[in-house]
Amino acid sequence: MRQWMRWACLLVGVGSAGLAAAQRPELRAEPPVVLSYGEVPGKEVPYVPSPPEVVDAMLAAAGVKKGDVLYDLGSGDGRIVIAAAKRFGVRGVGVDIDPRRIREANENARAAGVTKLVEFREQNLFDVDLEPATVVTLYLLPEVNKKLRPKLLREVRPGTRVVSHAFDMGDWAPDQQLEVAGSTVYVWRVDAGDKAAGVH
Ligand SMILES: C[S@@+](CC[C@H](N)C(=O)[O-])C[C@H]1O[C@@H](n2cnc3c(N)ncnc32)[C@H](O)[C@@H]1O
Repeated sequence: MRQWMRWACLLVGVGSAGLAAAQRPELRAEPPVVLSYGEVPGKEVPYVPSPPEVVDAMLAAAGVKKGDVLYDLGSGDGRIVIAAAKRFGVRGVGVDIDPRRIREANENARAAGVTKLVEFREQNLFDVDLEPATVVTLYLLPEVNKKLRPKLLREVRPGTRVVSHAFDMGDWAPDQQLEVAGSTVYVWRVDAGDKAAGVH
C-alpha cells in the first residue's frame, strides 16, 4: 500500500487495530477496533507500522553495524529495534507512549530471542535522553519531526544517523533520500555544523 493511502486510511478513522490486522495475519481474527490516537495523553502520532521492506531500507540507509545503539522514537510493536538486534546484534531502545505497543514490543522481542539486546520504555519521546544513540529512527508526522528537531540536534553526538520514514525535517536538508515500496526514507548524518545550527 502506498504511503499516502496508509495515512488516508488513518484520517478516515480505520484506526490502529485495523491497519495492524491488515498487515499481520495473526490479528485478522480480531474484529477491527476503531481507536482515536488522542485517547492516550501525549500521543501525537497514530500507530501505523512501517512495512518490512521499509524497515530493511531504513537500517541499510543508516548503515547499522555492530556497536551501534539504535533508538526508535514511537516504536510501535518494536519491529525496527528488534530487526536491528536480530540482524546486526546491536542494542536498541524503543520508546512508545502507548502501553499496548510496549506490551506487544516486549512479546515480539521475546519471540525473536533478543530480550538481552533491546529495551522498550513506556515514555513520551520528548522526555528521552538521546545522548547514547548512534542511530535514531522515526516514523512520526511532519509537525512532530519539526518539534523534535532542536532536541535531537542538541542531544545526539556528531556522527549519529537520523532516519525518518515518510516525513522530512523542514529546512534541514537530508543527506540521502530514497523511495521504497511507495514510501520515502530520509537520512541525515549529524555533524557539528548541524548541531550548532539546529539548537537555535
Ligand atoms: C507511525 S507509528 C510508528 C511505529 C514504528 N516506529 C514503525 O515504524 O513501525 C508511531 C508510534 O508513535 C507512538 N507515539 C505517538 N506519540 C508519541 C509520544 N509523544 N511519545 C512516544 N511515542 C509516541 C504511537 O503510539 C505509535 O506507536
